[in-house]
Amino acid sequence: MSVIAQNLIWGVRRRTIVNDVSLTVAEGETLGLIGPNGSGKSSLLRLLAGLKSPGSGRVEILGQDIARVSRRALARQVAFVQQNATTDTNMSVRDVVRLGRTPHRSPLTGWTMADEAAVSTALEQVDMAGLRGQAWQTLSGGERQRVHIARALAQSPRVMFLDEPTNHLDIHHQIEILRMVRRLDLTSIVALHDLNLAAMFCDRIVVLQGGRVVACGVPAEVLTRSLLRDVFRVEAEVTPGPYPGQPHIRFMAA
Ligand SMILES: Nc1ncnc2c1ncn2[C@@H]1O[C@H](COP(=O)(O)OP(=O)(O)OP(=O)(O)O)[C@@H](O)[C@H]1O
Ligand SMILES: [Mg+2]
Repeated sequence: MSVIAQNLIWGVRRRTIVNDVSLTVAEGETLGLIGPNGSGKSSLLRLLAGLKSPGSGRVEILGQDIARVSRRALARQVAFVQQNATTDTNMSVRDVVRLGRTPHRSPLTGWTMADEAAVSTALEQVDMAGLRGQAWQTLSGGERQRVHIARALAQSPRVMFLDEPTNHLDIHHQIEILRMVRRLDLTSIVALHDLNLAAMFCDRIVVLQGGRVVACGVPAEVLTRSLLRDVFRVEAEVTPGPYPGQPHIRFMAA
C-alpha cells in the first residue's frame, strides 16, 4: 500500500473536524475525495500529507510512519497542491516551478541536468512551457493553478495530494490535468467538487460528510442517486456513462 491512514482524528477546540478516518490507497491508484463544503476534505489531505498532526491515529506513506520521517525526506516523496495556493514574491513561472526541486538539492550540488529536466517536463505536462518566462503575478487564475501543479510535479513525488486542482481551469485543462494525473506512475489523492470528473478519472472515491467517511468504492458503487441526495442534498439521475464503470450524473433543477 502506498498510503495507509488509521483512525485519524483531528479537531479544533471542542469541534471534531476529521472524525475517525481510515483509508488505504494502492500504489499508482487515483483516489478521489468528495464531500460538501466544510466536510473535512482539505483537513484530511493535510493530515495525510503530514502538513498537520492528528490528535490521534497514524499515517503511513510507502511503509513509513510519517510522524517519524523528517520534513525534507517526506518532501522527496510527497507533493501537495493546495486549494487556492498563492505565491507572494515576484518570480517567473520557471522560478516557481524550480522551487519544486528544493527537497532534492543539497548545498553541495548546483542546479543539475536532472533538476532542469524535471522542471521542463513539468511545465510541458501542464501546458505552460510557452509562458515559462512570464511573471507569476501577471498570470490568469487557471495559469497560476497549472504552475502550482507543475511545481508539485517537478518535485518528482511518488505520492501527490491535490486539493481541488481543477479550480479555475477551463474544461479542456480540467480534463487534461486529471487525465495526466491518472496516467502518471504515481499515487494520487485528489479532492474534487465536480462529481462527473471524479467518476471519469478516479479509480475509487471516498465520500466525506461531517468529517467521517460515509462511502468508499469504485465510482459506480459510490455515486448513487440516494448518496447524492443524502450527502450533497441534490436530486440527480445517474446513468451509465460512455465508458464502463463511469456513471454519468445529471443534476435536476427542481
Ligand atoms: N484551523 C481551523 N480552525 C477552525 N476551524 C477549522 C480549521 N480548519 C478547518 N476548520 C473547519 O473545519 C471544517 C472542514 O474544513 P475543510 O477545509 O477541511 O473542509 P473542505 O471539505 O475542504 O471544504 P471545501 O469544500 O469548502 O474546501 C470547516 O467547517 C472549517 O471551517
Ligand atoms: Mg477544501
